[in-house]
Amino acid sequence: MNTVILLKKRPVGKPSPGDFEFTSEAIPVPPTGNVLLETLYVSVDPYLRGRMNDSKSYVPSFELGKPIQSGIIAQVIDSTHSEFRKGDYVSGNLEWKEYQVSDGIGLIKVDPKVSPLSSYLGILGMTGLTAFLGLTEIGMPKAGETIVVSGAAGAVGSVVGQIGKIMGCRVVGITGTDEKAELLKSKFKFDHAINYKTSDDLKEAIRIACPDGVDIYFDNVGGEISDAVLSNINKYARLPVCGAISQYNDTKTPVGPRLQPILLTKSATMRGFIVRDFSAKFPAGNKQLAIWLKDGKLTYAETIVDGFENIPQAFIDLFDGINAGKMIVKV
Ligand SMILES: NC(=O)c1ccc[n+]([C@@H]2O[C@H](COP(=O)([O-])OP(=O)(O)OC[C@H]3O[C@@H](n4cnc5c(N)ncnc54)[C@H](OP(=O)(O)O)[C@@H]3O)[C@@H](O)[C@H]2O)c1
Repeated sequence: MNTVILLKKRPVGKPSPGDFEFTSEAIPVPPTGNVLLETLYVSVDPYLRGRMNDSKSYVPSFELGKPIQSGIIAQVIDSTHSEFRKGDYVSGNLEWKEYQVSDGIGLIKVDPKVSPLSSYLGILGMTGLTAFLGLTEIGMPKAGETIVVSGAAGAVGSVVGQIGKIMGCRVVGITGTDEKAELLKSKFKFDHAINYKTSDDLKEAIRIACPDGVDIYFDNVGGEISDAVLSNINKYARLPVCGAISQYNDTKTPVGPRLQPILLTKSATMRGFIVRDFSAKFPAGNKQLAIWLKDGKLTYAETIVDGFENIPQAFIDLFDGINAGKMIVKV
């Protein structure tokens, strides 16, 4: 039998296990010209939370009673497709099912001899591209500048900081535990790291960590952390708004500092983006990330959770900061 995970209820606030439902069905038989895939690695991502709401956004909402989808690495176990052979490994936006049929559209072959399979969900996948393109296209770092990254020890943040270092910047990360702050400095070579959960005065901690002010703020979290960074920005600062995880479970629209006077007086540019905005640059971005990875200039961390049945909890755990680096479920 084939286990499938459906969206049972739209979460209110932080998602809970009861929002998901496990069902089973017969393993499908692929029609001619299709492939049968076996799921190996499942990416859980903060943006999936937005797709669980019944609201219009840049990707359609998940439907109640239907399987959830995310980035998945799978193996072709049966094929009559002209481009995919039995044994091939592929990456795609697929359903939370142990086995599924695909017509091949949107599948990309990945090679475990080039890089471990799970890395195609992180550094060589969507989150690596988000870090690279958000930082270079909107942050436009110049050597000697100061970059602050929030969500710094996560999949996107840890790559942003390392690319900032490659580009000759001073990099300060904000994260939620002392262990992750240590990881930022030891593994990812950040110049400084701040634990926002234990800092009494985050605005002051950022001011001390950035004696020359903040030129680029790569924002993964929004909310009060971002308010504290914004009060430290320099003239002509650039602020790529990548994510706002601190607000994804909000049930009311929060009211924060009004940003216009800061942006105005600092001639600063704040720009939201969805990585797909830069899809024309994906091949070049992937190539650059793979080169840096091969040359040892980039590294990555993963939190691998074992077991298909643990996918919903791994997703929920993103909101408690359980992960360091990319959160992935190994099936
Ligand atoms: N624009 C795009 O195209 C795009 C693409 C990919 C991702 N994103 C966004 O980028 C951000 C990072 O994504 P990711 O995949 O790399 O996830 P991630 O950072 O690997 O995981 C989420 C992390 O967010 C932090 N967090 C959770 N709740 C928080 C809160 N209330 N306040 C502050 N931090 C909180 C936790 O770390 P701590 O322990 O540090 O709290 C957690 O580990 C997300 O906001 C995501 O939506 C955007």
